[in-house]
Amino acid sequence: MINNLAEYTMNSPYLTELFSLQNQVAVVTGAGGALANALVRGLVQAGARAALLDRNVERGREFAEQLTAQGAQALFLTADVLNREQLEADRDVILKTWGRIDILVNLAGGNVPAATVADDQSFFGVPLEALRSTFDLNWTGTVLPSQVFGEVMAQQKSGSIVNISSMAAQRPLTRVIAYASAKAGIDNFTRWLAIEMARKYGEGLRVNAIAPGFFIGAQNRAMLLNPDGSLTDRGKKIIAQTPAGRFGEAEELVGALIWLCSPAARFVTGVVIPVDGGYSAFGGV
Ligand SMILES: NC(=O)c1ccc[n+]([C@@H]2O[C@H](COP(=O)([O-])OP(=O)(O)OC[C@H]3O[C@@H](n4cnc5c(N)ncnc54)[C@H](O)[C@@H]3O)[C@@H](O)[C@H]2O)c1
Repeated sequence: MINNLAEYTMNSPYLTELFSLQNQVAVVTGAGGALANALVRGLVQAGARAALLDRNVERGREFAEQLTAQGAQALFLTADVLNREQLEADRDVILKTWGRIDILVNLAGGNVPAATVADDQSFFGVPLEALRSTFDLNWTGTVLPSQVFGEVMAQQKSGSIVNISSMAAQRPLTRVIAYASAKAGIDNFTRWLAIEMARKYGEGLRVNAIAPGFFIGAQNRAMLLNPDGSLTDRGKKIIAQTPAGRFGEAEELVGALIWLCSPAARFVTGVVIPVDGGYSAFGGV
């Protein structure tokens, strides 16, 4: 652990240690998804062992096998983030395998098409079930893993939880009602849990979030790009509101994640970091 910068010489591994996740155990939900591919690779390259949780067994298992073949310590476990029993069983396997849990990345989430309101549709008839399931996946699906894995961190008196917010949290995005509300709830929950964990279990417990801008993934591809790769009208609006003038690359989220999980952020808790090419700063003029 780095304590006194003055003790380090120019050739010492100060920065390497500052951002190292060596021997830490990371749990990532939704680990078979588009953004997870880059984020998990970042975690293991920083030295972490990774438990990959996803309800999609095929994608998650294949990814874990790829990582293991490349020399990483990775383990796939089936989990629906809304199923406490499954999460608890996974927690037991991870503890049996690696003995501790240092990092939780709550990545599982997304929108449900039935819970959206297109320009030619009405809000008034949107089925409650669709709204509930979107809210549950994004909000409850972050809270429940935080209970199950956060409890281990509280016992250890150390650990870092990173939630995944969205540009829809601070300023609602048209169409995506429940998704936007749930992500706004995640921002609030991030701050709430940061306070709870630090006050009750000590400063070694930190809870933060990353708010990605717009990254092309399976969920939003058709909304942002036409089949020929050109921008849809919605895609054009987003790029016009993004000072960087482009969509993000999943790798561009890795730095923020490693920083938030590493000793470099040991005094950082309760924050939501936008990684968005300037979208959230821009007033549009
Ligand atoms: N792609 C973007 O532009 C963007 C922007 C902002 C926020 N996000 C957020 O980032 C996260 C990841 O996004 P992505 O684009 O990689 O999505 P993705 O759809 O590619 O990946 C989501 C993964 O979560 C898994 N999953 C879904 N429901 C689950 C459940 N109940 N239990 C366990 N696993 C479940 C899916 O099987 C999938 O592997 C989401 O929370 C999303 O809301 C994405």
